[in-house]
Amino acid sequence: MSFDRSIKIAPSILSADFADFGREIQAIEAQGADWIHVDVMDGHFVPNLTFGPPAVKAFRKHVKTVMDVHLMIEPVDPYIDAYADAGADVLTAHVEACPHIHRTLQAIRGAGMKAGVALNPGTPAEAVAHLLDLTDLICVMTVNPGFGGQKFIDMTTKIRTLREMIGDRPVHIEIDGGVDPKTAPLVVEAGADVLVAGSAVFRGGSVENPEVYGENMRAIRASVA
Ligand code: DX5
Ligand code: ZN
Repeated sequence: MSFDRSIKIAPSILSADFADFGREIQAIEAQGADWIHVDVMDGHFVPNLTFGPPAVKAFRKHVKTVMDVHLMIEPVDPYIDAYADAGADVLTAHVEACPHIHRTLQAIRGAGMKAGVALNPGTPAEAVAHLLDLTDLICVMTVNPGFGGQKFIDMTTKIRTLREMIGDRPVHIEIDGGVDPKTAPLVVEAGADVLVAGSAVFRGGSVENPEVYGENMRAIRASVA
């Protein structure tokens, strides 16, 4: 996984058919997804529950691009090795869920993955000021995590601040929540390079009708070109 700041679309399979993840991942990649975003929720850190390491390991068999695993769980540290074993390329933990986030990021890298740190809308950019050399990706939440299909919360000031703080470091800025052709230009202009999108990518399509996924992704790309 080499570093670059080109715009990457990372469809969230939270909006896929839960009975057909394998074919959904294949369809979305065939239609041009750059990364696959996997939302892990524990019903404790966030008020919703999705899937754990065995499911994520099963997804891995279908992912040819980059498997980007977003942990919305607390605690994180006891599960890092399980997600490494499941084949995560990027493992992202929430700063709000980790009392020792510095150690958590070291452990994620130590387990052979890229280390991401996510910030809820209420958490300031400064929360990662001392973590910039320990992280490969900062995920700026533009919704309160837990559900797909929520309304975009404008975090462009935070994104701009992070982009300045990062400087020349090889750190991605990922945006998660409510990204669509209207909101994508705002976050890209502010400095984001990885766009997570669930409902805006899967809306109207299916594994039987995957061209719609392609059209939806092209609409997001065109909005930021
Ligand atoms: C929210 C998740 C997101 C979500 C995005 O808790 O982390 O990845 O699936 O979905 P949309 O694009 O529908 O807001
Ligand atoms: Zn996510």
